[in-house]
This record gives sequence, C-alpha cells and structure tokens, in this order.
Amino acid sequence: MELLRKKVIDEGIVLSNQVLKVDSFLNHQMDPVLMKEVGKEFTRRFADQEVTRVLTIESSGIAPGIMTALELNVPLIFARKQKSLTLKQDIYVEKVFSFTKQESNEITVSKKFMKPTDRVLIIDDFLANGEAAFGLARIVEQAGATVVGIGIVIEKSFQPGRQLLLEAGYRVESLVRIAALDNGTVNFVEE
Ligand code: G4P
Ligand code: NA
Ligand code: NA
Repeated sequence: MELLRKKVIDEGIVLSNQVLKVDSFLNHQMDPVLMKEVGKEFTRRFADQEVTRVLTIESSGIAPGIMTALELNVPLIFARKQKSLTLKQDIYVEKVFSFTKQESNEITVSKKFMKPTDRVLIIDDFLANGEAAFGLARIVEQAGATVVGIGIVIEKSFQPGRQLLLEAGYRVESLVRIAALDNGTVNFVEE
C-alpha cells in the first residue's frame, strides 16, 4: 500500500534493528484519513471472503480494526488485555506472550460476541512473532468460528510471525512488509 509505505518512510523512526516507532500515525497519535484507507485496502484484499466480525486486540489494533469493520459493515470486537469483571465462564481466555515486553498477558473476549457461525477477519497493527495473532485465532477457534484471514498493517518480515501463521494454514495480508531495519533505515520487501 503506497500511501502507508510513504508514511512509514516519512514518519517512522527506526529505534533499533528490531523496532520501528510509528507513534505519529498509528501507536499514539492516529491518522484517521490513513486508517480509512487501511480499512478500504483490507476490505479489497479480503473481498472474496464472507466476513461477519472483525477481531483485533486493544489498543493499537482498534483504529485499523474499526475502519475495516466500517467498510465491511460488520461489528468490531477488540480482545481485552485486562482481566475483565465478567465471570470466567462467560469469556474466552488465551495467553499471549510478548517477546518485546518479555511477559505473558491474558486476552479475553466475551462469549456473547462470537458464535460458531461467525467468519472472523483478524486485524492487528504489527506482526512480529505472531503471538498476538495466534492468540486471537485460538479465541476464534474456541468459539467454533472460522478465521477467514489475518490483516496486518505493518509486518516485520525478518521476524518469524508471518511464516509461522502461513505454516499454520492462515491467510496473511500485510499492507507493508519490512525486510530489515538496518542503519536507521527501513528496507521493504519488494513485491
Ligand atoms: P507479536 O504479537 O507479533 O508476537 O509481537 P510482540 O509480542 O513482539 O509485540 C508486543 C507489542 O509490541 C504489541 O503491541 C505489538 O504491536 C508491538 N510491536 C511489536 N513490534 C513492534 C515495532 O517494531 N514497533 C512498534 N511500534 N510496535 C511493535 P501491544 O503491546 O499489544 O500494544 P498496543 O500498542 O496495541 O497497546
Ligand atoms: Na502495538
Ligand atoms: Na497490537
């Protein structure tokens, strides 16, 4: 997605050879015009699929998730990271390990928002090791519902998430793919 690639080049800050900071348009300040285009692009890429729900994880997945859900005219569900007050029997729970933070979080989704008939498009802001995406997919599968695909705004292709998700049989559509973050510059995967 050319608009997004340009935004990454113009505003992304390479913090290390592992981490790209994009807090001016995605992770802190959010660019609604760009997010609207992101929603349209995911909708275009998954146009061959019936989708009944979009699923993401708080907080940075919500902006691309809601714009995609708006375009598809379906609800957005965001998995919560905090322990909810809801009874355990009423929620799906999965553990997600963050390599970045070196900690494990429980993510939860209320059972009332996902049914076996649902066809779920998973959206997230970053794909690194794939832990968050796998956790979301396990929640969909706990519900007996179907994962139609995984849409990622920024994929770090030098980390194993994409390959692991493909090997597990998921379709992955990433709007920009980063091959390397070397010497302070962003190198994209040529497609
Ligand atoms: P994984 O899900 O692919 O395994 O990724 P990981 O555990 O490493 O990611 C933990 C958090 O860090 C996630 O945000 C993820 O989006 C974010 N992240 C991973 N790599 C980068 C990067 O290069 N740049 C930026 N800006 N973020 C990255 P989170 O903890 O869920 O936070 P939130 O922003 O959604 O609240
Ligand atoms: Na994030
Ligand atoms: Na995220």
